[in-house]
Amino acid sequence: LPGGDLSGRTILITAGPTHEPLDPVRYLANRSSGKQGYALACACRDAGARVTLVSGPTALSPPSGVRFIGVETAREMEAACLEALPVDVGIFCAAVADYRPEIETAHKIKKERGGLSSIPLTENPDILKSVSRMSGEHRPTLVIGFAAETDDVIGHAEAKRLRKGCDWIVANDVSPGTDTMGGDNNTITILTDNGEETLPQMSKDDVARALVSRIVAAFDD
Ligand code: PMT
Repeated sequence: LPGGDLSGRTILITAGPTHEPLDPVRYLANRSSGKQGYALACACRDAGARVTLVSGPTALSPPSGVRFIGVETAREMEAACLEALPVDVGIFCAAVADYRPEIETAHKIKKERGGLSSIPLTENPDILKSVSRMSGEHRPTLVIGFAAETDDVIGHAEAKRLRKGCDWIVANDVSPGTDTMGGDNNTITILTDNGEETLPQMSKDDVARALVSRIVAAFDD
């Protein structure tokens, strides 16, 4: 890579959806495929970094040459992330469920036993926020969040960056028809303290390589 690489750097990446169980056979989830996060793991590995990939359930194979930790729920993802610290860079690409069902029943919910007409929810831990707000050596030097938005993409993403306390946020439009969630391409805007940079639509592999080159440049500075 021109201008240096990531050899010797440690990088934690989250990817994929989380599954939040309701009963032994049902869960709440979202359409994240894990493709963008896995592409980031590969690009960071290829740049020489030591990568830990914490992934929710996906149809993808764990990439070779990275430490892979498969999880199901947001709480498991949080525990695996905290366990992986300290790292130089944290990239939080997972689509973590903000809420989970308040109770997980031991037996399958049955219509004949009264069923369920609504699902009480409770808030999940915010992994990006808690890592961003860590003090001392446990806070990664560079914390990068993602923001999946469907309207006022830049405005909402910048508000999210400030609210969560991460250094950069990568905004992407996940409206129907964009191919972002689940698809092979992405169109991103990188928001930092120094302003914003919008990249044209490209493959998720190219998005990952573009982000790696920005990370390399940030460490060179
Ligand atoms: O997986 P793909 O199909 O390739 O799609 C990629 C993607 C669209 C999922 C990805 O590029 C993306 O945008 N990921 C973030 C999705 C998301 O949940 O965004 P959010 O705006 O809800 O969350 C903001 C940030 O906080 C994210 O960095 C998220 O990982 C993090 N977060 C959110 C909630 C929570 N409880 N804990 C978190 O760490």
